[in-house]
Amino acid sequence: MDFRKKYEDFFETVHPSYMDEERFVPSVGPEDADVVFIGEAPGANEVEQGEPFVGRAGERMNDILRDIDVERGDIYITNLVKIRPPDNRDPKKEEIEAWAPLLQQELEDVDPEMIVTLGNFPSKHVLDTGKGISKIHGRIFTREGQKIMPVYHPAAALYDRSKGPELEKDLRKAFGKEESGQKKFTDF
Ligand code: URA
Repeated sequence: MDFRKKYEDFFETVHPSYMDEERFVPSVGPEDADVVFIGEAPGANEVEQGEPFVGRAGERMNDILRDIDVERGDIYITNLVKIRPPDNRDPKKEEIEAWAPLLQQELEDVDPEMIVTLGNFPSKHVLDTGKGISKIHGRIFTREGQKIMPVYHPAAALYDRSKGPELEKDLRKAFGKEESGQKKFTDF
């Protein structure tokens, strides 16, 4: 997908103070994906490689996807803010607002069955809530026919190991791959 070309209307109108070619990372994945992942904003590795979630947080995410038998290539992966905030600071409200119309357009175009928001910033934005991720992760919300599940950000699972199993459990649920806790008859 030629992301810049597809969304050239947006890029022609975005205020120049919110766009920086040197720090921009496009979304990746099938344009008709069943599942969309929304991260916060790219980091240094993402800018270097021109793809979301290719640094340490991305590796953690890939490990979990592998464990639950989901192909990363089947997921459309985007970020709330598509340029890397300087010094890895949190995205500002006005940056989120500047990039919001593009995210909205992407969600309309891909029209997935499930939107997974990774961490506080995209979860609060997409669900329009002030509630923190620890209160809402793993719950399925429905808005205009689309399911939305907030989950912990994979970077949080790196810093706090207890969050890894929670993230895995929530992603299993998002992909309908929950463990029953009981072995199937055929397993014996
Ligand atoms: N963290 C994010 O939120 N997005 C990325 O693309 C990489 C790390």
